[in-house]
Amino acid sequence: MKALEGKHVVLGLSGGVACYKSAQLCRLLVQAGARVRVVMTEAATQFMTPVTMQALSGEPVVLSQWDLREPNAMAHINLGRWADAIVVAPASADLIAQLAQGRASELLALLCLARPAQRVPLLLAPAMNREMWAHPATQRNVAQVQADGAQVLEVGQGEQACGEVGDGRMLEPEEIVEDVVAALTPKVLAGLHVVVTAGPTFEPIDPVRGITNHSSGKMGFALARAAREAGATVTLIAGPVHLPTPRGVRRVDVQSAQQMYEAVMAAVDQASVFIAAAAVADWRVAQVAERKLKKDGSGQPPSLTFVENPDILATVAAQPRARSGHLYCVGFAAESHDLLANAQAKRVRKGVPLLVGNIGPATFGRDDNALLLVDERQAIELPPGPKVALARQLMVEIAQRLRGGPA
Ligand code: C5P
Repeated sequence: MKALEGKHVVLGLSGGVACYKSAQLCRLLVQAGARVRVVMTEAATQFMTPVTMQALSGEPVVLSQWDLREPNAMAHINLGRWADAIVVAPASADLIAQLAQGRASELLALLCLARPAQRVPLLLAPAMNREMWAHPATQRNVAQVQADGAQVLEVGQGEQACGEVGDGRMLEPEEIVEDVVAALTPKVLAGLHVVVTAGPTFEPIDPVRGITNHSSGKMGFALARAAREAGATVTLIAGPVHLPTPRGVRRVDVQSAQQMYEAVMAAVDQASVFIAAAAVADWRVAQVAERKLKKDGSGQPPSLTFVENPDILATVAAQPRARSGHLYCVGFAAESHDLLANAQAKRVRKGVPLLVGNIGPATFGRDDNALLLVDERQAIELPPGPKVALARQLMVEIAQRLRGGPA
């Protein structure tokens, strides 16, 4: 199931160069499964044609409250009732000022004012010159619309179309979609702190070489993303991977198992959930060489001795807070065969209430996976699908167990 399947999104464009990004945003929302209806201010039409937005959304673009295609001539009411979320991207300084004052002289501001506020979240993605953004009037208006219930997304930093450099760029379309999905996700983990480990570890041999594995970190990153969407505060402790940090997630980068262990121990103190999805090396080289190990011509390979790494999951699961149920621990098992039996045995061995099995070689580096959830009472299969979709289902399963037992 796509992240926005069946959802209705009203995408509002106000005037600004960033309108060029709204075309891509519209596409991404549609690709995520949403039906999108576009509303544009007159200024927005100077930057982007309604024709483009109508072609991309596949729905009629609405430009005016006087649009007579609406049988009741009340576009502002109809769109608000139809919407599951309203996203204004770009939100100009003027549009934010109109909203702060409750003005309704253009359809977009009127629609925002008339929206059923309890049911329909309003997200604003500001975009403007850095001086306009920093101006006290804009900051005052931003604070006011937030106090009135709008969710104002942060602005990006960097080069602006005007040639200046600073705060005020609109977020990238991918980032805005992540926030729309989060805004529409039930907050089953609200108020909880979730710690996730992800990716491989890298165990150095000398300054240039080391031992690692094929874990891509995709499952762990998807879990962090899904936990944040579900309302949790998330700390993601990541081994060396090349993946973007999910929106709103605090990321701690580590290399070795020992570093991951230390980062986890520092983070789980206040946490309610710990999910160990990292593929942690069992062994590390006892003595890391200070200089690169070179061939000496004798044909003799260097002899390495190994010591065992701490088992992060088992250590956390043995803590009093975990044993008393205040820190819910979830382990992962990447197996090559006999998934159920291996997962059941691993759950007991690690001392965790929930263990998630997957067939390792079939999932490494891929965007899809299938999961087997094993707890004390039962085993539940989550059929093949995108890792992020499985991660969302797993959050619901964890939340149910936190509330006192599986569904
Ligand atoms: O024992 P095995 O490595 O198969 O167990 C896998 C589970 O234990 C995963 O959840 C993994 O993140 C966790 N683990 C850990 N620390 C280790 C080894 C595994 O947290 N040193």
